[in-house]
Amino acid sequence: MSSHRKDLQYMSIVKNILNNDEFLKIKKIEHHGISRYDHSLKVSYYSYKIAKALHLDYEQTAVGGLLHDFFLSPEDRSQKDRLKSVFTHPKQAVNMAKSHFELTKKEEDMIRSHMFPINLSVPKYAESWIVSMVDKCVATNEFAVKFRFRLKYAYNLFLLFAISVIKF
Ligand SMILES: [Fe+2]
Ligand SMILES: [Fe+2]
Repeated sequence: MSSHRKDLQYMSIVKNILNNDEFLKIKKIEHHGISRYDHSLKVSYYSYKIAKALHLDYEQTAVGGLLHDFFLSPEDRSQKDRLKSVFTHPKQAVNMAKSHFELTKKEEDMIRSHMFPINLSVPKYAESWIVSMVDKCVATNEFAVKFRFRLKYAYNLFLLFAISVIKF
């Protein structure tokens, strides 16, 4: 995704976050088959565009969307830890975001409630609903791409196996 770079207004809102050393660490973390940084950027930019079209607070939406998954996790997490993280990471992200940036109540709410209804923190603002819904759409798309890739990989393996069986 590069269209956000050409959007100077968007870039001026988020540049301090994108240049933050701690935030840059999520570039190295895998998330739905891409990096957590790229996922966060997509959620932030699409949410910002929707908020702007609806005459809502697009600046806070851009920030809340960008920080919604701002948490660090080890690469070798067990399946159990990954599952647990589905429920716990919004709170982790709020704590991380608050320790590196000054958050408004609305931005904090966007991060805390983005996993609703999986966790029970109900979004309190229209902007929080936007981030939560955009996150679900973006994540669904990312999982679909990741899953298709796996299917293709499995199909290629099957073909290789079938060819080797036919040869013998
Ligand atoms: Fe999340
Ligand atoms: Fe997310």
